[in-house]
Amino acid sequence: MPKHISRLLVLMVLFGAVAYGAKQYFTVSSYYAYGHYRGDSVAQMASQKPKLMGTAYCAQCHVAQSTAWTGGVHNNPAQGKAVKCEVCHGPAGGRDAVGPFEIASTGPTHPINVKMLIPTDTARLCTNCHERIAGRPAQQPQIVIADHAGTLQCTTCHDPHSPRTIAGSVVAGAVAGDAAAGQAMAAACAACHSAPYKMGPSLAGQNAAYLADAIAAYKAGTRDNPVMRAMVQSLSDANIRDVSAYFAAQACRSAESNETGGTDKAVATGANCIVCHGTNGVARQPAWPNLGGQSKDYLVSALKSYRDGGHKNPQMSAITKDLRDPDIATLATYFAGVGCK
Ligand code: HEC
Ligand code: HEC
Ligand code: HEC
Ligand code: HEC
Ligand code: HEC
Ligand code: HEC
Repeated sequence: MPKHISRLLVLMVLFGAVAYGAKQYFTVSSYYAYGHYRGDSVAQMASQKPKLMGTAYCAQCHVAQSTAWTGGVHNNPAQGKAVKCEVCHGPAGGRDAVGPFEIASTGPTHPINVKMLIPTDTARLCTNCHERIAGRPAQQPQIVIADHAGTLQCTTCHDPHSPRTIAGSVVAGAVAGDAAAGQAMAAACAACHSAPYKMGPSLAGQNAAYLADAIAAYKAGTRDNPVMRAMVQSLSDANIRDVSAYFAAQACRSAESNETGGTDKAVATGANCIVCHGTNGVARQPAWPNLGGQSKDYLVSALKSYRDGGHKNPQMSAITKDLRDPDIATLATYFAGVGCK
């Protein structure tokens, strides 16, 4: 073979090898995944339905959340209204594994392959369904987000698996004490807890469940106050129930003589107090304290105490953490002003 022909052949083989190598190197591995035409891929991907496993599947392993959900308001199949686990957590079924030319097999499901999403921005998640929108059907419970929650996460107060349950609430009537038996003990408390309320907060007409809770917290030291700790150290659990029942049965007596009628309602609404403590300071659940009737000074000191960590309560700490002293003064003025209702 003439020399120039063999050189040409070598060059052609080299060129072919480089061209093949370049094709292998530059073609993305998913090239044929959706067929020969890239334009088909969008429709094909869209046609892969999420694989939902259903709530019974989750119940096998996540017993606590499933039990709360089953008894909660988001499970109401009778009315065709059920917000199932996968609505919030995403589909648990394995996605289709894609072979070289076609959808070939189904991948393993959660918990092996699919990691479930934990929603962190609940303000956004829950708002999708619960924000008040003109024309949204009335049977879908709706709130005005700014008035109801401000910038707080919905899970600060609502249990996501049983959202009617508000954190920290107890069943009404759980504290059944004997008011008559409590009266004798209450004499020791009168020095500080009766009008004109210069030394301690007003207890008359306060919710019994809240009183019992607060007294137990002083006794255990989880509410840090040396005076009150000493006062209630010797009370038994039964004594606590009785003295709480006694004060709860008294008529509320307002600490402030010059009630302002609760001006500045906008501030209290804006700071989300109303949703738990009511417009007129009457709490919406027996586990929560009424604020109406307390003195401004006490309200200020209690709010600062939650903010600074002396009184500990998850909701009150979250709500007060960003309050400045002037905000606290305004809020205290408002609630002191509503008086007893
Ligand atoms: C076979 C048992 C099993 C089933 C069924 C199951 N899970 Fe899980 N799940 C687990 C295990 C184990 C983990 C912890 C895995 C990890 O830490 O990565 C987990 C973790 C989670 C997490 C938290 C993820 C994280 O990052 O901590 C969520 C949320 C979750 N599962 C939701 C669900 C939902 C919703 C269903 C029903 C559609 C479900 N699971 C069904 C076993 C299961
Ligand atoms: C309305 C939305 C919603 C629904 C429905 C829901 N979850 Fe959750 N789930 C959440 C949110 C939000 C969190 C994060 C909780 C937190 O931050 O305290 C969570 C957390 C979890 C976790 C992590 C552990 C924990 O409790 O923090 C598991 C496991 C879980 N959910 C399982 C389930 C199962 C099982 C179901 C169905 C029976 C379900 N969830 C239904 C919103 C939802
Ligand atoms: C997919 C839509 C959807 C999502 C997401 C959703 N909800 Fe709901 N929620 C509903 C529906 C529908 C009902 C009414 C059920 C009924 O009436 O039986 C309801 C009921 C409620 C209720 C009871 C209202 C009442 O009348 O007492 C509360 C509270 C609530 N949801 C809070 C939440 C919170 C908090 C989240 C976020 C963690 C959330 N929801 C996420 C649809 C949703
Ligand atoms: C500061 C605590 C708090 C926060 C934060 C909060 N809620 Fe509530 N929510 C409550 C309380 C307390 C009730 C019960 C009010 C009542 O019984 O009148 C309630 C009731 C509701 C209801 C029923 C309303 C009705 O008219 O029946 C819905 C729906 C609701 N919340 C959704 C949400 C959503 C969505 C978020 C997050 C954007 C959220 N909540 C954040 C405390 C809160
Ligand atoms: C020497 C004065 C004094 C006496 C006597 C006293 N207390 Fe108190 N009490 C206080 C002060 C001060 C506070 C506010 C403490 C704080 O900020 O934590 C308080 C707070 C309380 C609270 C919390 C109220 C709320 O709204 O959070 C309860 C409940 C209570 N006392 C019950 C009693 C009982 C029951 C007795 C009698 C056995 C008693 N106290 C005797 C001074 C006293
Ligand atoms: C999610 C419901 C909730 C919201 C919202 C809320 N609180 Fe409270 N608040 C509570 C609970 C529960 C306690 C009792 C905590 C404890 O046991 O220490 C409390 C206690 C208090 C106390 C102490 C009362 C006493 O007698 O010692 C004051 C004052 C108070 N809240 C004011 C406010 C103000 C002001 C706001 C608005 C910025 C607010 N709260 C918002 C639930 C709430």
